[in-house]
Amino acid sequence: MERGLILLVAAFMVYVAPGVQGTAHLSFASNTEVNITRTGCGVTKLCVETPGNCDPSGTSSCLFGSVVANTSATNGAELSIELRGDSEGYIALGLTVNASEGTTMLFICAQNSSNNGSFFFRTMLRNNSNNEQSAIERIVKEIRGTVNGSVIKCEFNIPNVNATQTRANEDTTFSILLGTGTFDGNALGTFNVTLNSGPLNLGNSASNVATTPAPTPSTSMTTAGSGAVHPHAVLLLLSVLTLSVLLRA
Ligand SMILES: *[C@@H]1O[C@H](CO)[C@@H](O)[C@H](O)[C@H]1NC(C)=O
Ligand SMILES: *[C@@H]1O[C@H](CO)[C@@H](O)[C@H](O)[C@H]1NC(C)=O
Ligand SMILES: *[C@@H]1O[C@H](CO)[C@@H](O)[C@H](O)[C@H]1NC(C)=O
Ligand SMILES: *[C@@H]1O[C@H](CO)[C@@H](O)[C@H](O)[C@H]1NC(C)=O
Ligand SMILES: *[C@@H]1O[C@H](CO)[C@@H](O)[C@H](O)[C@H]1NC(C)=O
Ligand SMILES: *[C@@H]1O[C@H](CO)[C@@H](O)[C@H](O)[C@H]1NC(C)=O
Ligand SMILES: *[C@@H]1O[C@H](CO)[C@@H](O)[C@H](O)[C@H]1NC(C)=O
Ligand SMILES: *[C@@H]1O[C@H](CO)[C@@H](O)[C@H](O)[C@H]1NC(C)=O
Ligand SMILES: *[C@@H]1O[C@H](CO)[C@@H](O)[C@H](O)[C@H]1NC(C)=O
Repeated sequence: MERGLILLVAAFMVYVAPGVQGTAHLSFASNTEVNITRTGCGVTKLCVETPGNCDPSGTSSCLFGSVVANTSATNGAELSIELRGDSEGYIALGLTVNASEGTTMLFICAQNSSNNGSFFFRTMLRNNSNNEQSAIERIVKEIRGTVNGSVIKCEFNIPNVNATQTRANEDTTFSILLGTGTFDGNALGTFNVTLNSGPLNLGNSASNVATTPAPTPSTSMTTAGSGAVHPHAVLLLLSVLTLSVLLRA
């Protein structure tokens, strides 16, 4: 655990831009349609949300995130993320090894109140010790986002990356953080964590069905989520770890 954490932090630190952050690492889908539902939660996608079991397609307050890991790509895994929440500033999904130490990679979907609530996207690195954020350039693709009043919805992909390093099995688990923050037209405020999933195997859609009831979890899915290490998860997390290295090429 200790070594994996250090590697992760090191990989992130390399890309902290001094001063302002560019957006060349971001690309947007031409199709802006965003349709986020609970369909597939616990079966085809890993879902976390607060309040529990809330409906991301509804109008009630609901901070919702989902993750799908595609390990079929020949060059590595791809993470597909859905995020929905209520904020006049931003909502964000964070990935971290341990929310109490090290860093969190934050994927931020925001609205610009200075520009009619128009949607924008950023990646940031959060220091878990003091909650400070710094700009970081992490490639994100197929970004789609919509804003309706205080409801922000977005979908995006962390693209295929190569798995070239080995890591101990216990290092393949990440905590998902969901939260919100402000945007004053110029700067993103600190990340206010609303939900910490605790350690989850991201490659297993059912890895949290015991704590977050999915609509129809099967017995086999529940068993799979009780702690077994999914081989795809190993590939996926290796890939997340090595993405930064590959970006240097
Ligand atoms: C949104 O997704 C749900 C479930 O995947 C589907 O049933 C519904 O038809 C979709 N709605 C639109 C407008 O695409
Ligand atoms: C997974 O990635 C492969 C290769 O990029 C692609 O052909 C396939 O459609 C993807 N699967 C899903 C479910 O997106
Ligand atoms: C990573 O994948 C790219 C293709 O997307 C390939 O050109 C490159 O050789 C791969 N790198 C390694 C280290 O496997
Ligand atoms: C997370 O970090 C805290 C504080 O450093 C430590 O006490 C705890 O054991 C760590 N948890 C895991 C699962 O490593
Ligand atoms: C927000 O809108 C203002 C006014 O249009 C603009 O100057 C600024 O660049 C926008 N910020 C972002 C992050 O889109
Ligand atoms: C915001 O929208 C209003 C009405 O559509 C428009 O008149 C105004 O120019 C827009 N402001 C900006 C900064 O785009
Ligand atoms: C995070 O903040 C702590 C306390 O200010 C500092 O000691 C540490 O070096 C920071 N870590 C990173 C990765 O910036
Ligand atoms: C925005 O949300 C309101 C309900 O809060 C809904 O009536 C309206 O249709 C939504 N607009 C769009 C463009 O989805
Ligand atoms: C953080 O979020 C909680 C719950 O949404 C809210 O009560 C609290 O005021 C927020 N804190 C800050 C500093 O924004």
